[in-house]
Amino acid sequence: MASGRDAASVIARLIERARTVVAFTGAGISTESGIPDFRSPDSPWLANRPIDFDLFVASPEARREAWRRKFAMDDIARGAKPNAGHRALASLVAAGKMPAVITQNIDGLHQAAGIPPDQVIELHGNGTYATCLACGLRHELDAIRTAFEATGEAPTCRHCGGLVKSATVSFGQGMPEEAMRRARELALACDLILAVGSSLVVYPAAGFPLLAKRNGATLVILNREPTELDCMADLVVQGEIGQVLGPLASPSPATH
Ligand code: APR
Repeated sequence: MASGRDAASVIARLIERARTVVAFTGAGISTESGIPDFRSPDSPWLANRPIDFDLFVASPEARREAWRRKFAMDDIARGAKPNAGHRALASLVAAGKMPAVITQNIDGLHQAAGIPPDQVIELHGNGTYATCLACGLRHELDAIRTAFEATGEAPTCRHCGGLVKSATVSFGQGMPEEAMRRARELALACDLILAVGSSLVVYPAAGFPLLAKRNGATLVILNREPTELDCMADLVVQGEIGQVLGPLASPSPATH
């Protein structure tokens, strides 16, 4: 196991030697941007049992609670900016070393760090808009929040009357097929996969670092706490993502 600054040089050397690097990220890469993760001891979300997809569909009260939590999370995440960890991965993508980032996150910070949206594979969807579960029509969050705060009622589709849900993937909801296909393709194509800021307990997402490892890739796990897959890793780095990956970020272009 490596830690702290020397870990950065070890990871840098692995990246140097690798042909194709892929990052697999979790909520831990966004905590230094002020967005709490889900399972750290101090996470505010620990108190909330996730609302399963079937319950969201069946229960008007569950839908109201889901939207209340969504807006509370939005208030916490509002104004969050990418941090050194996001910038380091964006540098690797810009350098052509990393074809894409596979992420469980819904906060859009990889894209905000400069990674083109088609190179961010969002396994758990995206929390910046909503869609109708029946017809797929996109709905904007501002309009939903205004109506919700006025009526207290969860939104329905203005086009077909169907239930409207944040475009994230809930437990029990089908995974996005195209994202899963691309993530599998990348896990099989890379020779180095960096699992960054994830407890690696949620499947099928956590299966991708495993798939890459079983396909012969080097698996590096960078996380503050031990994870479920540490025993499979070639290198485990327990440390702060920003400190470990920060040195990999190319200096931001000088502002004129
Ligand atoms: N540096 C390093 N590690 C960190 C940092 C940091 N600054 N901040 C948090 N971590 C670590 C925590 O120790 C934790 O193990 O990141 C990990 C985040 O794990 P989770 O909170 O479980 O988040 P994640 O793995 O992304 O959860 C997967 O679960 O609730 C669902 O859909 C949700 O996508 C999410 C999925």
